[in-house]
Amino acid sequence: MSNISQPFRPHSLGPDMHASEADIESILLSAAQIQARVAEMGAQISRDYEGREPVFISVLVGAFMFTSDLLRHVTVPCSLDFMAISSYGQESRSSGVVRVMKDLDESIESKHVIILEDIIDTGLTLNYLLENLRNRNAASVRVAALLDKPSRRLTDVSVDYVGFEVPDEFVIGYGLDFAQRYRNFPYVGVLRPEVYGGK
Ligand code: IMP
Repeated sequence: MSNISQPFRPHSLGPDMHASEADIESILLSAAQIQARVAEMGAQISRDYEGREPVFISVLVGAFMFTSDLLRHVTVPCSLDFMAISSYGQESRSSGVVRVMKDLDESIESKHVIILEDIIDTGLTLNYLLENLRNRNAASVRVAALLDKPSRRLTDVSVDYVGFEVPDEFVIGYGLDFAQRYRNFPYVGVLRPEVYGGK
């Protein structure tokens, strides 16, 4: 029988989980660091949107964890919609080819929109998204991203709320994946380059 006094270790639940954690080179942002920063971002957004009712657009799948944690700290009335975008597939680098897999359920006309992204890397995905939303006549559009890799930017996109700047490493965890894995990790880690065939 399992000993219930043992601390819960989320990544030791099975052989596959053990294998996954061995793929991590280092932990870049701990779960506690992320939680503290996301709470600050929620408070900041709540102050900035006092008297307004923003619509959050969460970009699936990568932003799902950021979205659910951030919204717990938003104190103004708000709503949430999702957009699913295909980006890398099995690749670890942006192809610049973006496809909308799921569009918004509601109109954003005259609404104050805040796009929630996991990471802005080259900026191509965000650029595409902003273009895509441009004709829908929102009252305003801002962007909140958990992570920003400014050194890799290929387009000039402005990000209004940034959780953390990260170096040019392939990172996973807290919603971010490589080949659909690692999204469940509560921290952000650097993936060993040999796992994705990188440098
Ligand atoms: P961009 O179009 O190059 O800015 O890439 C944006 C998308 O690529 C993000 O929303 C992520 O889904 C993915 N991405 C970029 N860098 C990383 C990374 O280091 N780890 C995991 N996914 C990433």
